[in-house]
Amino acid sequence: MNDVIAARALHVLAVVIWIGGVSMATLAVLPAVRRGELGQDRLQAFQAIEHRFAWQARAAIIVVGLTGFYMTWRLDLWDRFRTAGFWWMHAMVCLWLLFAVILFVAEPFILHRHFRKWALERPEAAFIWLHRAHCVLLALGVVTILGAVAGSQGWSIF
Ligand code: HEM
Repeated sequence: MNDVIAARALHVLAVVIWIGGVSMATLAVLPAVRRGELGQDRLQAFQAIEHRFAWQARAAIIVVGLTGFYMTWRLDLWDRFRTAGFWWMHAMVCLWLLFAVILFVAEPFILHRHFRKWALERPEAAFIWLHRAHCVLLALGVVTILGAVAGSQGWSIF
């Protein structure tokens, strides 16, 4: 089962890079950007950091998906998706799908253009919205990680 151990190690490493980055953006970068501490051009300050991290997050999402489905297939865990007690398996897949849609579809094709326009017209409102959206995503990530680590050790709240 060395392959499953390797998949799990890569899975967790990619989760750390990805959700760690979301945490950094939410709790450190966005508050500083909103206060103008990284320069008065808030959009440029945010994008300088965000466009570098977006590629790391996209790569991490691909690794998390590949290793996650590999473990599910290799250990034949598909039945878990029929049991509420394994809510954390559903949470992992839903969060993964949500981020995949945001980073591969919404951000490059829709959000990039619209957010830029909005941030130039009403920067205060645009960055409040962006910060809140990051808070929600981070909260979902934290709940999923807690549920997955506890759940994979057999601990369940149901
Ligand atoms: C396509 C999406 C995903 C699939 C199919 C998937 C699948 C899996 C599987 C099969 C396991 C092993 C469970 C066990 O040993 O009982 C696992 C563990 C784990 N996953 Fe995922 N996962 C996915 C996405 C995510 C996401 C988005 C996160 C967090 C943001 C995450 C965090 C974790 C963590 C923390 C563990 C526990 C590792 C450990 O304690 O050993 N996974 N995942």
